[in-house]
Amino acid sequence: MNTKKTIRILAIETSCDETAAAVIGEENGQPVILSNIISSSVNLHAETGGIVPEVASREQMKYMVPVVSQALINSKHEIRNSKQIQNPNDQNSKPVSDFDIRISDFYSEAIFELQNNITHIAVTAGPGLIGSLLVGFNAAKTLAYARDLPIIPINHIEGHLYSALAEEFKISNLKFKNNDKIEKLKNEKIFPALALTVSGGHTMLVLMKNHGDYDIIGQTIDDAVGEAYDKVARLLGLNYPGGPEIAKLAEHFRNRVHSTQYSVPSQDKNPEYCELSTEDSRSPIVFPRPIINDGTFNFSFSGLKTAVLVKVKKIMAENNLQSATDINLRTKEEIAAAFEEAVADVLTFKTVKAVEKYSPRAVIFAGGVSANHYLVESLKLSLDTARDRKVKSIEPDIQFLTPPKEMSGDNAAMIGLAAYYHIQRGDVSDWSSVKVDANLKLI
Ligand code: KG4
Ligand code: ZN
Repeated sequence: MNTKKTIRILAIETSCDETAAAVIGEENGQPVILSNIISSSVNLHAETGGIVPEVASREQMKYMVPVVSQALINSKHEIRNSKQIQNPNDQNSKPVSDFDIRISDFYSEAIFELQNNITHIAVTAGPGLIGSLLVGFNAAKTLAYARDLPIIPINHIEGHLYSALAEEFKISNLKFKNNDKIEKLKNEKIFPALALTVSGGHTMLVLMKNHGDYDIIGQTIDDAVGEAYDKVARLLGLNYPGGPEIAKLAEHFRNRVHSTQYSVPSQDKNPEYCELSTEDSRSPIVFPRPIINDGTFNFSFSGLKTAVLVKVKKIMAENNLQSATDINLRTKEEIAAAFEEAVADVLTFKTVKAVEKYSPRAVIFAGGVSANHYLVESLKLSLDTARDRKVKSIEPDIQFLTPPKEMSGDNAAMIGLAAYYHIQRGDVSDWSSVKVDANLKLI
């Protein structure tokens, strides 16, 4: 008898420094995240001020099997949220789970799940660090071969696009209770969607016309936004990853300004300056908004990073400082806030222009940098403002979608979600034909 099994995807992501695995199931014809495990080696890279590819892939080799096993076990118990795990192979650690499990039972329980319930394997095929990609890719390929399962190679950026749908449809941590939500997805009311995806490796505006049907309408011509955050943080002597560090300093500045109503003198404003932010008071330092008025949807951030470098050197010279680390905290906060204002202005300006041109039903903001609260609020505010201006081309009920916090950075659940829609389209592969590509293009 040929009974069709419910879809259960084991997804693996290792494109950068994370080792991640997740299981995606299906309920009421919709994807549901059953587990989502992320193990990061970011602390090791904090010491070196950036990712050392070989260190990342060696860690991924150590963590791959425990992470996959934990994802399989958690899926059985439907422990859906991401969780940092320790390596059960380490002497001083045990598998971390929300229930008690002996190490001797750990792998046998995982293998049972794999053998009995998993129907598909999904894996990030690129872009990313080749040494890291290969660890997850080979693991996935081997599992597909050994279990004779279809495999779905996924573009990492497509995964980030799908991470933003997790929140909207509440598939990250609860079952569907609200039928409206189910209807919404079924009717595909989010398409066309305009996705701004921003991370350490890419910055792109993508028009999602439907599942799997994308146009890239703009992208960075040099550095990615996250890369600019990381480089500016390094200039200021802050730890890697720099995004959260800069965000923290900028936030301190804004809190301070709000309590004293400090205001920026208008003559300090740069010619490329453009007033778009949520704040009525800004940093007294003003950096350029590169290519904001070039009429394209492209971005450029390397000049912004250079402007910060020039400013930092000037402050060091004026104050006779040996190192940027010695710059006083208040000034660092002003630099961080000014940098973030410039980034927010450029991202929001171009996104709103693209919304006016393409009339999307939803705007998606995804990728590691989308964890940034100020950028999220700036985007929301400028969309609201544009809608309130009653610009004809802007949909009155346009939605703003961004991933839940635990899915803004790299994770495997987003890879599994993207794979779910590939399966719906019959777009699955065989282990013998899939290829990994460090420079894989979205289209
Ligand atoms: O998507 P992701 O985890 O990995 C890549 O695919 O690159 O993104 C990592 C990037 C890093 O550059 C990191 O500094 C940045 O996201 N990031 C942030 C924040 N949290 C992480 N950037 C700005 N603000 C944040 N709160
Ligand atoms: Zn990423």
